[in-house]
Amino acid sequence: NGGEETLVAADAAELARLGAELIARAIAAAVDARGVARVALSGGSTPSEAYQRLAALSLPWAQTEWFWVDERAVAPDHPRSNYGAARRDLAAAPIPEERFFRMEGESPDLAGAAAGYERLLRARFGVASAVSFDVLTLGIGDDAHTASLFPGTGAAGIEDRLVAAIPAQPDKGLEPRLTLTAPVIQEARLKLLLARGAGKRGVVAQAKLSGPVDEVPARVVRGGSGRLVWLLDAAAAQAG
Ligand code: 6PG
Repeated sequence: NGGEETLVAADAAELARLGAELIARAIAAAVDARGVARVALSGGSTPSEAYQRLAALSLPWAQTEWFWVDERAVAPDHPRSNYGAARRDLAAAPIPEERFFRMEGESPDLAGAAAGYERLLRARFGVASAVSFDVLTLGIGDDAHTASLFPGTGAAGIEDRLVAAIPAQPDKGLEPRLTLTAPVIQEARLKLLLARGAGKRGVVAQAKLSGPVDEVPARVVRGGSGRLVWLLDAAAAQAG
């Protein structure tokens, strides 16, 4: 694989600052090398401050393209929309409107929306090229999910699609979702996994051990050719 490292931030503010820096460097390097930087964003509360700090930096914004790692089955203006949340966090950055490529979480046909997003990705990256994001952010849930690959659902093992529709989990109060699958996540040039708080310590440790991905879906991030950075605060990083 493309290497793996763990960075430990003293607190939430440093985690956000380091996260913004890593994303900014990946964007600048991609624009230098290929004239465009393609970024895929996760939702969740942890990356929000990093996105806000990123938006305040000076970057070749007009040469960036923004995609989503996962989306909840809600409209873009819904408070739980990952697209809506990231757009608010990035509001200060002068990114042209047509550079945002959101997943259609509000679609009544989520399987169709997943297939549509896959076609969009293939078209943006070039039909003959692999879909490899320059930087992709990830979180990890208390149940060890990453993106919308939830444990015990088989989702982490999907390899025949780039994008999947994930059924609702009513027992957990979760709406259906759209998500990038493991093969796309694994091939991103930089996979940035952000986690903070003592509550994430156990699942981070689990995800770093090899084993069945259906039990601990976040394990999928360690596969593939991309470089993996675990960006943790001190509480999430502590062993034991
Ligand atoms: C989402 C996410 C999800 C998230 C984790 C961690 O749509 O919720 O993309 O995979 O990254 O649940 O979330 P926190 O950062 O809020 O802990």
